[in-house]
Amino acid sequence: MTSAEKPHFYGRRRGRKLRVTMQQLLDTRLPQLRLDPVASPASQFDGAPDDLFLEIGFGGGENLAAIAAARPKAGFIGAEPFVNGVASLLRHIEDGGIGNIRIWDDDVRLILDGMADETLAGAYVLFPDPWPKKRHASRRILQPAVLDQLARLIRPGGMLVLASDHPVAKGWLLQAAISHPAFSWTARRPADWRSRPEGLVPTRYMQKAEREDRVPNWFLFERRDG
Ligand SMILES: C[S@@+](CC[C@H](N)C(=O)[O-])C[C@H]1O[C@@H](n2cnc3c(N)ncnc32)[C@H](O)[C@@H]1O
Repeated sequence: MTSAEKPHFYGRRRGRKLRVTMQQLLDTRLPQLRLDPVASPASQFDGAPDDLFLEIGFGGGENLAAIAAARPKAGFIGAEPFVNGVASLLRHIEDGGIGNIRIWDDDVRLILDGMADETLAGAYVLFPDPWPKKRHASRRILQPAVLDQLARLIRPGGMLVLASDHPVAKGWLLQAAISHPAFSWTARRPADWRSRPEGLVPTRYMQKAEREDRVPNWFLFERRDG
């Protein structure tokens, strides 16, 4: 992708001024853990990971840290352009002694092209920015081009896990994935989208939604064969 084609990122890159210790983590640990977008992702983990996963927009990294700690032999790539979120993930990594996360601290769309087909066992898009207004629909993360890339990258039988608490975002997330021929919605009954999938932990946005009486839902899609 040339710089002329670089996608526009509409979210925040920076929030509150970081504490000195968080800035130090960014200065020292991020260069060690930053994903090299040119090299093969699997080659960037210690040992050969038995599976690779991607979390898009990991926010504060609560979920990414938890799922990575639970699967130490797998490799996890997290993409998040919000620097305070990246610092928060680095804090989780340090506190948990987690060794199997690589970080892309920019727009995820910049790394998708460079990954080989069927690289991923799964991808997570949890509580994405809802962009509820129609005129902002092009800012929503699950654009057809991104979904096509995820269809190419997730191997058959792999999972695409979506979540939202926002009525409009629930609609566009579901619509995008249901209408894509490569994905099949696994839900059989309402409990399947009402309960948090095993192994996922409450994210900051999920907790905020519950405090404000909004109902989170989770939508699990399987990558079809062929
Ligand atoms: C509403 S927050 C949710 C964060 C987290 N998943 C949670 O549940 O707490 C959405 C996040 O997606 C990130 N994001 C938006 N567009 C992105 C993109 N193109 N690539 C990577 N991350 C993105 C934003 O920076 C933001 O932190």
